[in-house]
Amino acid sequence: MDGLTAGALSLFPDGATVEDGELALGGIRTSELAQAHGTPLVVYCQQTLLSAVRAYRTAAPGSLCLYSVKAFPSLALLRLFAGEGLGADVSTLGELAYALRAGVPGERIVVHGNNKSDEELAAAAEAGARFVVLDAPDEVDRAAAAGIERVLVRVTPGIEADTHPAIRTAHHGSKFGLTPEQALVAIADAREAGLDVAGLHLHIGSQLLDSEAARTGIEWLGAFAADCRAELGWEPRVIDLGGGLGIRYVEDERPPAIGDFVRTLLERLEHAWSLHELEHPETILEPGRSLAGHAAFTLYRVGVVKAAGTTTYVAIDGGMSDNPRPQLYGARYSALLANRAGEEAAGAYTVCGKHCESGDVLIDAVALPEPRRGDLLAVPGTGAYTLAMGSNYNAVPRPAAVLVAGGDARVIRRRETVDDLLAPEIT
Ligand SMILES: Cc1ncc(COP(=O)(O)O)c(C=O)c1O
Repeated sequence: MDGLTAGALSLFPDGATVEDGELALGGIRTSELAQAHGTPLVVYCQQTLLSAVRAYRTAAPGSLCLYSVKAFPSLALLRLFAGEGLGADVSTLGELAYALRAGVPGERIVVHGNNKSDEELAAAAEAGARFVVLDAPDEVDRAAAAGIERVLVRVTPGIEADTHPAIRTAHHGSKFGLTPEQALVAIADAREAGLDVAGLHLHIGSQLLDSEAARTGIEWLGAFAADCRAELGWEPRVIDLGGGLGIRYVEDERPPAIGDFVRTLLERLEHAWSLHELEHPETILEPGRSLAGHAAFTLYRVGVVKAAGTTTYVAIDGGMSDNPRPQLYGARYSALLANRAGEEAAGAYTVCGKHCESGDVLIDAVALPEPRRGDLLAVPGTGAYTLAMGSNYNAVPRPAAVLVAGGDARVIRRRETVDDLLAPEIT
């Protein structure tokens, strides 16, 4: 294996190896996976999912840890995580249905959403959700009317996380949460309406590559909790710190390890709370990307390879329909030619999808051996916010997903068919 392959391999799940020049996961060669399940195929590694969960549990043994279902709604992942004591953070009726179907108990479900419908509020009440997170002034009365008992209040402190603007959530003018002034009113109104206002929620943003904004957010929360005590005679007994920790998509990204990130946040909380002489709160964490993102790669089949000016395009059998992150956030990815992973790079190639947009480019430039039709291209870091955000653009069915464990690859989501796409049509 050359240095290039070794570098790229470090972006793949823990069980990934190169055997006889071919990428394998948990001892299963990628050519076998492609042969058995077709491509594109999202390949999850159970060992990597479990080590991420255990890193959270070890760093925050006293916190309630919730998998943020939006990262990848999957019964298999939810069941695996629930078996490790995790709950679920959901933001729609559909995500709630996934959590309940996977057997996550209501007491380990927190319900979000910046525009919850009455149906969603009623479903949260019926599920006995641990908390509904109030996100708008008019949700106080609506939540009380729906029979919700316990709530958190999501606050927007005006902090700009160092991440793509589309996934910042706590800045001034954000569509999420309540300004401090609105939050004070909502807390008072909710208590007046008979709701148990247990605490506060803050989610700074996603794909955070350091803890700075989260630390600032926690300091802000401590001061705000003290204001709540002074103005309302109420202080939070629960603090939900949301999710946010990023993963390494390309080699030059260096996010903190889960344990370091979580410990830093909890220490900062401890410090801020003692500074303001507040009662130590229960804590909740809601990771999504850092649980599922690094645990999967997507396996594509190479089709057309063609030169256009100075660019050589390598077209794969998927694209923006199974992973729209490059178009949404200019997200960067790396790749390995899975069936020829031991070969030296021959140049830099542009990986494009099969969709009818010039912007359907997955990777601008990646060093690869000269790709040929029929090769397999593996793109790491696709376990979160890829399939979950996919579409059927160009009437392309979405890929299957498999979970590799114990030398076996189990289908956890079947490949969509063209018949699935035609099913809702009415003629
Ligand atoms: C309220 C809330 N909690 C948790 C998450 C999960 O964030 P991440 O996947 O970055 O950990 C999100 C993501 O947007 C969110 O909005």
